[in-house]
Amino acid sequence: MYRVAVIGCGKGGEGVGAHSIGHAHGRHWSRCDYAKIVGACDLNAENLASYVKNFEVEFASDSAADMLARAKPDIVSICTYAGSHADLVEALREVRGQGRLLRKTDGAQRVGIGSDRDCL
Ligand SMILES: NC(=O)c1ccc[n+]([C@@H]2O[C@H](COP(=O)([O-])OP(=O)(O)OC[C@H]3O[C@@H](n4cnc5c(N)ncnc54)[C@H](O)[C@@H]3O)[C@@H](O)[C@H]2O)c1
Repeated sequence: MYRVAVIGCGKGGEGVGAHSIGHAHGRHWSRCDYAKIVGACDLNAENLASYVKNFEVEFASDSAADMLARAKPDIVSICTYAGSHADLVEALREVRGQGRLLRKTDGAQRVGIGSDRDCL
């Protein structure tokens, strides 16, 4: 079973329009019988609390580094705004395993841990 963490939960629920890609990732991971969401991070306390309740997440924090250290994920969905991706990818360096499956290339290239071939 792969351990998944989501960074950038969003508000979720009714009336948020096209926002909250973190919830879309959450719904996806919840349907996968090979994965479990074990960690969540958001700077917004309300968004984080509702995500934790919705997806029954064990480890939660407003600090990505803190959450990653405790949740020890194999896979991380980074669902924040583009400008924060590089710093969050940097935080992944500390995670065990160092597996890389990134949806976007911007952060990976800046910190030199990936190339287009590592990214979806
Ligand atoms: N909504 C979509 O369908 C969709 C699809 C593809 C890509 N995106 C991209 O995903 C990004 C997020 O969009 P959204 O609609 O989910 O926004 P959103 O505002 O609904 O959610 C973003 C969440 O990230 C949190 N956040 C921001 N910086 C953070 C940080 N450094 N650490 C932890 N949490 C942080 C915010 O508090 C917020 O809860 C945007 O760049 C958007 O272009 C969105």
